[in-house]
Amino acid sequence: MHNTIRHKFDRSSITYRANAPVQDHVAAKCAMRVPKGFSGNILEIGAGGGLLSEKVLARISPASHYYALDISKAMLNIIKNPGMQSDIFPGIEKVQADGEYPPFQDCSLDLMLSSSTMQWYKNSPASMTRNLQLLKPGGLFSLGLFVQGTFKEMEHVSSLTGFGSTHILPVASECLSALQKEKLELASEIETKTIQYDSVLSFLKKHKQTGATFSGKKARFGRERLRKFIAAYEEHYEKDGKIQVSYQILYIWGRKLL
Ligand SMILES: C[S@@+](CC[C@H](N)C(=O)[O-])C[C@H]1O[C@@H](n2cnc3c(N)ncnc32)[C@H](O)[C@@H]1O
Repeated sequence: MHNTIRHKFDRSSITYRANAPVQDHVAAKCAMRVPKGFSGNILEIGAGGGLLSEKVLARISPASHYYALDISKAMLNIIKNPGMQSDIFPGIEKVQADGEYPPFQDCSLDLMLSSSTMQWYKNSPASMTRNLQLLKPGGLFSLGLFVQGTFKEMEHVSSLTGFGSTHILPVASECLSALQKEKLELASEIETKTIQYDSVLSFLKKHKQTGATFSGKKARFGRERLRKFIAAYEEHYEKDGKIQVSYQILYIWGRKLL
């Protein structure tokens, strides 16, 4: 499963940034919860693409050590220089690894970050819980991930027409109740965002160019199914000449208790 996900992101690394306005929004909200001037050992999981890394690097102390971890090397390669005083942030280290099993010791990090990534985990509640064990007592975290409710229109229209398939996303309440059992002080927000696209085809194309197309299910395509999919999407979810696409984002932030 992770190999297929990695392969899809590898292939879309060139087109990702120009087609990821929602991921950029999630990254901005996760970054704003990082205290300005923060210094310490920082791990970002799913850092490839760089939308979150760049916002955080521009905010924290250059004395920090920033581990940018991603399963896709091609996605790591497009993290840009955040425009700090030196050409390259002095303490950034790129790590290619699986975020469900990151190569770090428990109680070794001061800050954990992740945006638009943890929905790809095989078991998001359990792996997020394990991830936060890497924090030192008092360590901070700011996470944002897509949860069930995202692409609810596509899911509905796929079930009507048999075209394509959608990834089963984690359930917000299951992620929250797993983390609430841990020694964490946490806050959360669920945001629903609806984006309008000019057409079903332009949405499908942009979505493909973000690399986020793994579904883990056998998908059926074909010209006739696509035609039915577009017609049904327009029938149910077109408003004022635009088609609607919903995203449901779970943000969790806080600190590990002493
Ligand atoms: C939406 S993209 C990038 C989001 C990035 N935080 C940003 O701000 O641009 C999601 C990233 O998660 C990575 N990813 C997916 N599953 C992963 C896993 N199990 N471990 C680490 N990275 C993963 C993908 O390779 C991809 O680069």
